[in-house]
Amino acid sequence: MKIILLGCPGAGKGTQAQFICEKLNIPFISTGDMLRSAIKAKTELGLKVKKIIDDGYLVPDDIMIDLLKHRISAPDCQRGFLLDGFPRTLPQAEALRNANIPIDYVITIQVHDDIVVKRLTGRRVHPASGRAYHIEFNPPKVSDKDDETGEPLIHRDDDKEDVIRNRLRVYHNQTQPLIKYYENLHLKNIKDAPKFFKIDGEKSIEEIKEKIFKILNVDS
Ligand code: AP5
Ligand code: MG
Repeated sequence: MKIILLGCPGAGKGTQAQFICEKLNIPFISTGDMLRSAIKAKTELGLKVKKIIDDGYLVPDDIMIDLLKHRISAPDCQRGFLLDGFPRTLPQAEALRNANIPIDYVITIQVHDDIVVKRLTGRRVHPASGRAYHIEFNPPKVSDKDDETGEPLIHRDDDKEDVIRNRLRVYHNQTQPLIKYYENLHLKNIKDAPKFFKIDGEKSIEEIKEKIFKILNVDS
């Protein structure tokens, strides 16, 4: 199964991706996580993108398209994958379609901007796995420690209020048009168009998970 999760910063894409990938046993591909590990490892890519990400802008399309194509050509993606954070622009969506890798589902998680700020300022992340917690809405069992490994959680550098607001601006200008793009492909019944669903992302984490499992036709 090949799935795209769309949604603004803080919509809950990473949170839901963990459940879906575990259930379907498919790789979780978060382009944001890939870029953050490149920054941590100080690779050439990491050095190039650090300031862009810290300021809340998008990394150029050519870099992202190469990175994604390389990742999904790996053997573990043969039986499917989940994309979180790609595509984020129309050229990225077109590149994916032109690569002839039909996507089965596009699921958009919708949340208002004011809720996003509250979610992201309280988020804590386990960088190695991408697991996300929230100090109030989804706290770890032990404060500031990952539930599975006990390793420390971090506060992302781009989760500062001014950067969050810029990420939201960038989302509305450059990524939100993809909702119409996929909706149109679906409505016009274009060949290999993914099935398209919109979900209310302001429900509880558990309710959203159940809704997504229902869409994907898997038991919760
Ligand atoms: P990326 O890492 O993709 O960040 P993002 O899109 O801004 O999304 P987030 O990870 O912030 O949110 P999420 O939807 O995963 O929410 P989460 O589940 O953690 O990208 C970072 C940067 O990389 C970009 O700004 C860009 O610079 C660059 N980049 C990446 N891909 C790119 C591309 N393709 N092209 C160009 N540039 C690219 O949840 C958030 C919080 O809310 C958590 O604390 C969680 O516990 C809580 N929460 C989740 N669901 C609920 C709920 N239902 N109720 C209450 N709380 C909830
Ligand atoms: Mg995420």
